[in-house]
Amino acid sequence: MGKLDGRVVIVTGAARGQGEQEARLFAEEGARVVLADVLDEQGEAVAKEIGEGRARYVHLDVSSEEGWAGAVAAAKEGFGKVDGLVNNAGILRFNALVDTPLDEFMQVVNVNQVGCFLGIRAVAPAIGEAGGGTIVNTASYTAMTGMAAVGTYAATKHAILGLTRVAAMELAGDGIRVNAVCPGAIDTAMSNPAQLDPDADPEAMTEALDELYRKLVPLGRVGRPREVADLALFLTGQDSSYITGQPFVIDGGWLAGVSIV
Ligand SMILES: NC(=O)c1ccc[n+]([C@@H]2O[C@H](COP(=O)([O-])OP(=O)(O)OC[C@H]3O[C@@H](n4cnc5c(N)ncnc54)[C@H](O)[C@@H]3O)[C@@H](O)[C@H]2O)c1
Repeated sequence: MGKLDGRVVIVTGAARGQGEQEARLFAEEGARVVLADVLDEQGEAVAKEIGEGRARYVHLDVSSEEGWAGAVAAAKEGFGKVDGLVNNAGILRFNALVDTPLDEFMQVVNVNQVGCFLGIRAVAPAIGEAGGGTIVNTASYTAMTGMAAVGTYAATKHAILGLTRVAAMELAGDGIRVNAVCPGAIDTAMSNPAQLDPDADPEAMTEALDELYRKLVPLGRVGRPREVADLALFLTGQDSSYITGQPFVIDGGWLAGVSIV
C-alpha cells in the first residue's frame, strides 16, 4: 500500500530539483503524476523514467492562464481526474531592492506568485469535482524572515503564505487542504548553480555546500531535495488529514535562533 494510492497529482517545476523528487516519490507511493515545467526535454525524460502509466509530462509556464487549463485537461485526459497539486515552480534573482529593475521584479512575481495563484485557481475546481484533495505551495524560509539581496523573491514567498492561508479557508468546504513548505538551503540548481555544469563533480559540490552551511545551520549541512519531497508527501497524504493553512519550515534549524558561535 502506497501513501498516495489512487491519487492524481500535478507537480510544477518537476523537470529537476525538488519538483523532480516530489514527482518520483509520489509515484513510488502510488500516485499518478503530471509533471509540468518549461524544461521539456528534462521533464519528458523524468516522466519516461517514472513510467508511462504512472507519469506524463506537460509543458506549462505557470504564469500562463491558458497553460494551466491545458495542464488540468492533460491530467483529466491521462488519468481521469486531479486531486492534488504541488505548486513548486519558482525562480530566484539576486539584487538589492533599490537596484532591481521593474521588469525583473515582475518576472519573479509572475512565476512565483502569479503562478501559485493561477495554479490554485485552475486546479481547485477539479480537485473539488474529484471529491477533495490537497494543494502544497512552495514558499521558502524567506517567507518567514528577510534576506538581503533577494527582496523580490522574499516578497513573492511571503505572498505565497498569504495565498496558502486564504485558500485553506476558502477551499476547506470542498474538502481541499492547502499548506506550504518553506525550505531553507536545499541542494538544487537554485542554490548550487554548479549543478548545471556538466563537467562538475556533483558529490564534491554537495560537500562544498555542506561545508558552507556547517556554521550557519544547526544540523550542519545543506538540505537534500528528497527531504523536501518527504514533507510534501506528508502534506499531500492522509497523515496530515487535520492540517490546513500552515507553513512548514524545513531548514535544518536555520531559523531556530541567532547563533554566537
Ligand atoms: N533550493 C533552495 O535552496 C530553495 C529554498 C527555498 C525555496 N525553494 C523553492 O523550491 C522550489 C523548487 O526549486 P528548486 O530548488 O528545485 O530549484 P530548481 O531551479 O532546480 O527548480 C525549479 C524548477 O522550476 C521550473 N520553472 C521555472 N520557471 C518556471 C515556469 N515559469 N513555469 C514552469 N516551471 C518553471 C524550472 O524549469 C525548474 O525545473 C522553488 O519554488 C524555489 O523557490 C528552493
